[in-house]
Amino acid sequence: MTLTLAQITDTHLLSDPDARLRGCPTWQTLQTVLRQVAPYQPDGLLLTGDLAERGDAIAYERLREAIAPFNRPAYWLPGNHDNVATAAQVFQADWLQGPAAHGLQSIDLGAWRLVLLNSVKSPARYGEGELSPTLLTALADTLASHPAQPTAIALHHHPVPTGIDWLDQIQVQNANDLWAILDPHPQVQLVVCGHIHLDLHHRHQRPAAAPIAVYGTPSTGLQLKHPHPTPDHHQPGFRLLSLNDDGSHHTRMVRVGEREE
Ligand SMILES: [Fe+2]
Repeated sequence: MTLTLAQITDTHLLSDPDARLRGCPTWQTLQTVLRQVAPYQPDGLLLTGDLAERGDAIAYERLREAIAPFNRPAYWLPGNHDNVATAAQVFQADWLQGPAAHGLQSIDLGAWRLVLLNSVKSPARYGEGELSPTLLTALADTLASHPAQPTAIALHHHPVPTGIDWLDQIQVQNANDLWAILDPHPQVQLVVCGHIHLDLHHRHQRPAAAPIAVYGTPSTGLQLKHPHPTPDHHQPGFRLLSLNDDGSHHTRMVRVGEREE
């Protein structure tokens, strides 16, 4: 069996659904992305932070309404633009799961385990990320408790450099601490993040186990100037992440307007 998640990230929603963020109508582009996601009939949605540009409750409420018609579980975690307490308050529903108070949520998806991390540093100077000592301890405990379950880790900030200087200054500041915990656990298959507004595929090599795949995903709205431009790099996108029962996975980034293969 395969379980497919659709990753939706960096929606940067404003309280006014008609407002634009640096020229981008983020509500409209989100709706366009959600329409493109729907035919894939994902088993769940994975929302990887920067969901509301200014952390307004109304933006989270409208986001909840926008994804409710999927009638599937949604997993969320905060980004540097979010108000974590407000988001947690609005997302109190059986079908919505996010990080607990200590910043981690470990979710049993059947064959797989999904671990959501809150990588928001508070206070942060420029929106950089950090994983707290409490969270790292909880992560180590979770991985030690479920050694046989293939595991996907999700967080907002990127734990590997993109090669873009200013962006890498606001990555997870203590990424080495994260890798030190993940590396000894062969069940950890992949890490998926938001924050970079770019498509990223990376293989994190480790000494005693297979590499960990690292994926970054374009925003549903604003795109960054791509270091390796493609004809559609300015288009919003999302990621399909298919988790197979045997522990393998495959993934595909889809841009708006892309035709079904
Ligand atoms: Fe963002």
